Amino acid sequence: MEPLDEFMYKYKGFHFIRDLSSPESIDALDSFEIRDDDVFIITYPKSGTIWTQNILSLIFHEGHRDGTENITLAERAPWLEYNTFHVDYRSRPSPRLFSSHLPYYLVPKGLQNGRAKIIYVFRNPKDVLVSAYHFAKIAPKIETPKDFDTFLERFLAGKGVCNLWLDHVEGWYAHKGDFSILFLSYEDMKKDLRSAVLKICSFLGKKLTQKELDDVVDKATFDNMKVDARANYTFMTPGIVDCSKGAFLRKGTVGDWKNMLTVAQNERFDRVFKERMEKLPFKFCWDIHEDSEPTFGSVEENV
Ligand code: A3P
Repeated sequence: MEPLDEFMYKYKGFHFIRDLSSPESIDALDSFEIRDDDVFIITYPKSGTIWTQNILSLIFHEGHRDGTENITLAERAPWLEYNTFHVDYRSRPSPRLFSSHLPYYLVPKGLQNGRAKIIYVFRNPKDVLVSAYHFAKIAPKIETPKDFDTFLERFLAGKGVCNLWLDHVEGWYAHKGDFSILFLSYEDMKKDLRSAVLKICSFLGKKLTQKELDDVVDKATFDNMKVDARANYTFMTPGIVDCSKGAFLRKGTVGDWKNMLTVAQNERFDRVFKERMEKLPFKFCWDIHEDSEPTFGSVEENV
């Protein structure tokens, strides 16, 4: 274990948040028992994790869909590596939902036998960067950014929590054959939420009625999640997410990076990232705004 700064430590090559985990808890994950019907949401931070948590909770739980139960997403799809709510994972009824930011090589060995299912959500890294910058200002467990330029350099060097975005995405994709995994882009979810929900249902073998599907899609929209206390992280303690400083569900748009990066910062980003990004099997569009006719990020092969 190597302390990195006041907030993070490095263990097995990965950057973890100090207060929320320990090397022992990470080691214990190696042999964590996986069930056939477990479902894992895996993301690099700020790629649409909470959104997918909500979608899965809505798909699996009628009480979440019809609003009769008050169970937060942190309880529904708890973090594998950060068990902040001290949930007893072993005694949870099936099907269990989990969330994780781990790289492919640190997840429980049982996952690699392909029995449980993984939904890997990725997002245009420039939007991830901007979202992460704003998030860092409301998250007391990670360093408050000095300024955007410094934050950008840290992101490009993979010095923040969860290391380099490229390594995370490339690693998971390169090892997709080890897992039962669905790759989904934030941009595709944004473009057509209904299709994304159907894709998830088909991957998980879940059949919903039209009414149930309508309810999932309706309750998973940004505007509805923003006012749903179970689904917007306002239930988090201020020590983890301080909602008095800003909303976790901040903007929820595609292409917000254009409002933040200067021309020079954008060029710098491209110099460092573009070559490896072009080799990724995902199509990314760098010039998208919701009101234009975009080619969104998708999982089609990049040929
Ligand atoms: P922004 O900061 O760009 O608004 P994560 O859960 O992985 O940390 O990702 C958080 C990002 O997903 C935030 O992005 C948040 O607003 C966005 N998000 C969450 N729910 C969403 C929804 N229903 N529709 C669109 N974006 C959503």
